[in-house]
Amino acid sequence: MVTHGSESYYVIGEGLLGTSVGGRDDSQNGAAPAAAAARATPAAAPAPPFRFSRLGPKGIGKQLGEGARKKLGAAMARAGGGSSGIPAGFTYLGQFIDHDLTFDKTTVTLGTNVTPAAMLQARSPGLDLDSLYGAGPLDPESAKFFESDGLHLKMGKTVDPVKDGFDLPRGAGSSNAQKRKAIIPDPRNDENLAVAQTHLAMIRFHNRVVDTQLGGVPAAQKFAKAREIVTKHYQWMIRTDYLPRIAKAAVVNNVFNQGRKAFEVGADPTTVPTMPIEFSIAGFRLGHAMVRANYNWNKIFDNGAGSLELLFTFSATGGDLGGDTRLASIWIADFRRLYDFGDANKPGLTVPPGKFNRAMRIDSRIVDPLQHLPPQTVGLPNSTGFNDVRRNLAFRNLERAKMVKLATGQQMANFLKNKGVNLTKLTKAQIRDGNNGADLGNLTQAQREAVLKDTPLWFYVLREAELSGGKLSGVGARIVAETFHRAMEGSTHSIVRDTTFKPSLGPNNSTFRMVDLLLFAFQGQKALLNPNGS
Ligand code: HEM
Repeated sequence: MVTHGSESYYVIGEGLLGTSVGGRDDSQNGAAPAAAAARATPAAAPAPPFRFSRLGPKGIGKQLGEGARKKLGAAMARAGGGSSGIPAGFTYLGQFIDHDLTFDKTTVTLGTNVTPAAMLQARSPGLDLDSLYGAGPLDPESAKFFESDGLHLKMGKTVDPVKDGFDLPRGAGSSNAQKRKAIIPDPRNDENLAVAQTHLAMIRFHNRVVDTQLGGVPAAQKFAKAREIVTKHYQWMIRTDYLPRIAKAAVVNNVFNQGRKAFEVGADPTTVPTMPIEFSIAGFRLGHAMVRANYNWNKIFDNGAGSLELLFTFSATGGDLGGDTRLASIWIADFRRLYDFGDANKPGLTVPPGKFNRAMRIDSRIVDPLQHLPPQTVGLPNSTGFNDVRRNLAFRNLERAKMVKLATGQQMANFLKNKGVNLTKLTKAQIRDGNNGADLGNLTQAQREAVLKDTPLWFYVLREAELSGGKLSGVGARIVAETFHRAMEGSTHSIVRDTTFKPSLGPNNSTFRMVDLLLFAFQGQKALLNPNGS
């Protein structure tokens, strides 16, 4: 079964940490436990699973008790504190990026010619779009993601009416489950319809690069060149558009311009990075706060009718495509409602404000449906009760922290300050009161005291954000920006290492945003960005 997250964490220098909160098989996941790693390929067996590291100190004696974790999880899963200014598409772009960072490429390699160095790279965080390309068209196990020319990525058809190129490619086979399974390297990108359509946009982006940018490139180098162009533009977009939307621009700029202060400082840029558990279990789970319960999805599922539940249902990992084997055309995204093309001076591609979807504010609350995740998303039996705490994403995140003895917010603040990072620690009153975020009133006095003294890192970074206008700041911004910087630095194609790179597919040589990526991918055409009409 393919599910989210890691059941256990292989932390360098510490080994395998963790126990289960849901009986899952991680063989397709970013961080495979030892058993899954051993299964992946014969060549993979001796290599460790995905490479996590610990950035800060251990939170020994600082973890919340189970009762407090449950109550805090419940307090956090109480609808969001309102919309943000961030277009809702960025939520699922974030999820796509997370899957790229945590993708374990050994799951799509036959492992025949994989060197130990490549194996290490395959199980390390990178922004190389492995979740899109797998191990590339020449790898026997990954060839299925590509057209027979070995250059274009496959796209899928929707039905009723048939439309080519508007869904992920899906399988054949005899059972309905096989037929609906997406043929993409990372099945997590079919966990909900919004991330699936984001993956499709990336496929289209690659294919347009192949069609338009490879004149004069010798045949044998065409794929590699296309991948380089796509990856560097994608990294530029993350650096200049995505990151400053979710984290304070000053911190992002400081890290990218002045360098890292805390994480793998001074590492040889070409060496393989690791992923701090503080990022994976806390910092970058910020995206959970951005998820909405309802979307004005398109003309048909309008006025909030595109519920999160339906976005799960009309995918094949989180749902079953509504019982069909292909996606119905009525579910194709209206990208104009998810991204603001007004930013790219395309007023003809905008929708009235009332139709536009904004992400929920980054704060210490998540929307109600996330406390009742589809059981299959977290590897639980379908019979699992609706209110089972293991279905609550907030509780799961807190549980993971306890599992690995993650440092608390206070420990990380001290740690980063000692490394020379300029930040102000939250006071107890700020952690208690926040700013229209989770209400700690349902915790007992003792539980609340424990939360204020030793604050779980995920909660801490969300409180920081809600006190800073809905953007990561302080501890959260630093952890996220430094991890991204290192992951980009250590990627095979890297705009951090290649400082001469300038984007060529946007309006000028310093601008390439997600709207520019989409305009290029969908040829600037309304009929492609929104085939269901206004
Ligand atoms: C509807 C949308 C989403 C759902 C249903 C979802 C669900 C999940 C689940 C079930 C886990 C594993 C929890 C566990 O540890 O047991 C997880 C992990 C995680 N999620 Fe999400 N998530 C969503 C969106 C996002 C977004 C938007 C981001 C970031 C921008 C994000 C970042 C992460 C990270 C960093 C992890 C841990 C690493 C990993 O396994 O990928 N998620 N998510």
